Amino acid sequence: MIDVALCPSEIRRFSVMDLSGVTAVVFDVLRATSSMITGLGAGALEIFPVNSVDEARRRKLKEPDLLLAGERGGLPPDGFDLGNSPEEFEKTTGRKVVMTTTNGTVAIQSMRRASEVLIGALLNMDALAEHLARRQPKNLLLVCAGTQEEFSLEDAVAAGALIARLPGGDQLSDSAILVRALSERTGDDLEGWLQQTKNGRALQKIGKGSDIERCARLSTSETIGCFQKDAVIRLRT
Ligand code: MLT
Repeated sequence: MIDVALCPSEIRRFSVMDLSGVTAVVFDVLRATSSMITGLGAGALEIFPVNSVDEARRRKLKEPDLLLAGERGGLPPDGFDLGNSPEEFEKTTGRKVVMTTTNGTVAIQSMRRASEVLIGALLNMDALAEHLARRQPKNLLLVCAGTQEEFSLEDAVAAGALIARLPGGDQLSDSAILVRALSERTGDDLEGWLQQTKNGRALQKIGKGSDIERCARLSTSETIGCFQKDAVIRLRT
């Protein structure tokens, strides 16, 4: 069975269900999961996703070697070492990172009781599809992190692109059929789609428009990120 949590209220509904036996793939294309895949690809050792700015700051106080990363309103909170741009995560080689973002890190934490939690992005789409085709999970839940309390088109586009790459025959929920149909409409201009979205427009407004092009690169990374215990790490396949 393939199901899709389309927005934060649905993520909360799923998060209290029995998630044993479920493989979750969390998408926050603009930008948290794209930055994580970029960081892991560049050799970041571990990324600890946390829910709040306070929690991130407390962890950094205890472990001063950590890089403190993330955003509120798209920008790094005071005292943070990094924001939430893929470009900044290129510089996390050999480092451990504690990260908090408005939606992405919260969505990942919400799935902590799932049997496997994978990090989804357009960047690693083919690698993710190959990984899932090998594992053949019985129950797959695609999690669209959204923006604040709302649905985000870019996460649904990515979820649809993944379903379109998986071997047929799986039972699809209505939301899975919807996002797969969306991916048939998307075509090649992913950057154009991302630019139109609420998150895309907000990034352009704060001068982070170049992140959109970075996040729209399709299948340029072989990196599979996996959330285990309290850290996102690179899965060695
Ligand atoms: C989020 O987690 O809500 C996003 O990654 C926000 C952003 O990129 O600014």
